[in-house]
Amino acid sequence: MEDKKIIIANWKMKLGLAETVDLAKKMKEKFKGFSGSEIAVCPNFISLLEVGKILKDSGVGLGAQDVFWEQDGAYTGEISPRHLTEAGCKYVIVGHSERRRYLMVNYEMIHKEIKAVMQVEDLTPVVCIGENWEERKTDRRDYVLYDQLQQALSGIDIVGNQKIILAYEPIWAIGSGTAIEPSEAEYAHKIIKLTLNNMFGMKIVNNNFKIIYGGSITSENVKGFVDLENLDGMLVGGASLDAEEFYKVVKAVL
Ligand code: 13P
Repeated sequence: MEDKKIIIANWKMKLGLAETVDLAKKMKEKFKGFSGSEIAVCPNFISLLEVGKILKDSGVGLGAQDVFWEQDGAYTGEISPRHLTEAGCKYVIVGHSERRRYLMVNYEMIHKEIKAVMQVEDLTPVVCIGENWEERKTDRRDYVLYDQLQQALSGIDIVGNQKIILAYEPIWAIGSGTAIEPSEAEYAHKIIKLTLNNMFGMKIVNNNFKIIYGGSITSENVKGFVDLENLDGMLVGGASLDAEEFYKVVKAVL
C-alpha cells in the first residue's frame, strides 16, 4: 500500500445533525488544499448525506461508523455496504469496541461484515481490534490480538488493490484521556503485522493493509507515535470533535 498515512475521525454518537454539519464545514475549511495524508471523518448515519455534500471535492473523505453484513433484505434498522457507497462513503469502521461492549457484536459478526464490505468496490473496512484492561494486566494481549485477527479475517480473499485498515484500539485507552506508551503500541503493531504476514503473506500485507492506532490521541501525545514502525496512521475520537485540534493531530503525523 502507498506510504501515505491515514487519519480517521470517529465522531461516535457525540453530535447531532446541526453540530455535525457545522463541524464538517469547519473541517473542509481547515483542510483546504491539504495533501500529504489521507483524511476521513465518520459521522453518524443520519448525517452522512449532508456531510458528503459538504466534503465533496474536498481533501476529506467520508466514512461510516458501522455496517451490516448483507447488501439488502429484511434487516430492519440496518445499513448495507452498498447503501454506504451510495451515500459517498469510502471507509467504514467495523467492530468498534463500543459496539462489542454495548451491542454484543462479536467477531463472527465482524467477519461477516468485513466479507460484505470487501464485495463492494471502493469501500475500505477499518477493522477494530484490541484487548481490554483485564487481558492487558494478565499478559494475554498478544494472544487476544492473534485470536481477534484470526476470527475477523480468516478466509477473507483479498484481490488486486483491495484495502483493509486494521485499527489497534486498546479498549482501556479509549476515552481515558491517556494514550498507551508509544513503545507498547509499537509492540502491539508488530504482533499484528506478524500475524497478518502469517495469514496473508508479506506481499499482500505490505500492499493491501494499513495498521493504525486509536485511543486518546491528542495533538500533544501524537508526536510520540508518528515515527513508530508499522504505524500507518490514527483513528481519533475526542480530539477530532474540534477542527483545529484535529488539524494539529494531522499536521503532527505528516
Ligand atoms: P478517543 O480518541 O476519544 O479515545 O476514541 C478513540 C476511538 O474509539 C476511535 O475509534
